Amino acid sequence: MKKTIENRDDVNLLVRSFYAKVRADKEIGFFFNETIQDWEGHLEKLTDFWETNLFGGKKYKGNPIAVHNEVDERFGHRISPNEFGIWLNLWFETLDELFEGENVAILKRRARKMGTFLYMNIFENRRKE
Ligand code: HEM
Repeated sequence: MKKTIENRDDVNLLVRSFYAKVRADKEIGFFFNETIQDWEGHLEKLTDFWETNLFGGKKYKGNPIAVHNEVDERFGHRISPNEFGIWLNLWFETLDELFEGENVAILKRRARKMGTFLYMNIFENRRKE
């Protein structure tokens, strides 16, 4: 039986497994591989992000909207709904492979919502250029 997502260790496993898939993906891997230098730092930051998202607390401090606008600028505005769709499908796939339960549904829903929000902000940010 698969386990439920209960603590930081579970979130850390989720994040590491997810990024292994992302980095290997032909269509979106290069955005990450060419941007992120300190992978250990990134994986811990993303663990902070999802841990805070799920269980509360203040570990994550950052501005995902600004970060994604910068990534879109750096890559010549090549981020499209296709990239967000691939990201989300890898997220869903990782969650379903490793875990079950209510927190799986919550993390799917929150990522879907945030993806929509980030993309709409990227689109808006392009008007300024
Ligand atoms: C679909 C939902 C997505 C979510 C929830 C999400 C979430 C995040 C978060 C929380 C960070 C860390 C921000 C920080 O540094 O504080 C991040 C970083 C990053 N994201 Fe996303 N992301 C999504 C989609 C994407 C997509 C589609 C791409 C590219 C095609 C992307 C590329 C990146 C890159 C390259 C970084 C690292 C930026 C840097 O360290 O300079 N993300 N993402």
